[in-house]
Amino acid sequence: SRALKIAPSILSADFANFGAEIEAVEAQGADWIHVDVMDGHFVPNLTFGPPLCAGIRKHIGTVMDVHLMISPVDAYIEAYAAAGADILTAHVEAGPHSHRTLQAIRGAGCKAGVALNPGTPVEAVDYLLDMVDLVCVMTVNPGFGGQKFIHSQIDKVRRLRAMIGDRPIHIEIDGGVTPETAPLVRAAGADVLVAGSAVFKGGSVANPGPYGDNIRAIRTACDT
Ligand code: DX5
Ligand code: ZN
Repeated sequence: SRALKIAPSILSADFANFGAEIEAVEAQGADWIHVDVMDGHFVPNLTFGPPLCAGIRKHIGTVMDVHLMISPVDAYIEAYAAAGADILTAHVEAGPHSHRTLQAIRGAGCKAGVALNPGTPVEAVDYLLDMVDLVCVMTVNPGFGGQKFIHSQIDKVRRLRAMIGDRPIHIEIDGGVTPETAPLVRAAGADVLVAGSAVFKGGSVANPGPYGDNIRAIRTACDT
């Protein structure tokens, strides 16, 4: 479970072409597909409801990794699970009862993830680690693609890696991942790298080659 996985965020894809975009980026080497759900309340942007997620699910051949940036979250878990999410990640800051939220996610048949905003201490997940399959360390403030990587979070990843120990829990990095920043978080212990703008830049459904080049550039940077 420590093998490097690249999870392109469709927030940077062509919104009029999700099916074809997802198939193209998978054919170009994506390991997981990352879906950013925003509610205009927990974060200052709006994106994908459950029916849209159910629609794109048919075009995803791999893991559908759904990042819920919504508050409250519990009332929507069943709907996103029914839409076909394999992993549902909720923010610890979305409260008020993260422990209950994570129980509900597993109860709905999904793998459970918990996400941490850049300003949240890593200790916030201390008593949740035995009920999660993934911890997402946000390396930008959530809400938008194309922001600058926050370097202070590398230390958080290192501390999280030590807290997790031998437990089979993914460490996912989300925000500002590029061939320059990826090796820093990989070395600190991350195994899943979400990347939106760095994967989709320069390519399109008609010209998907750059997606593959971009994914390989991130992987290669981590190999060294
Ligand atoms: C930000 C989202 C990210 C975003 C990453 O709120 O959670 O998944 O799409 O985009 P980049 O890789 O461009 O920072
Ligand atoms: Zn995300």
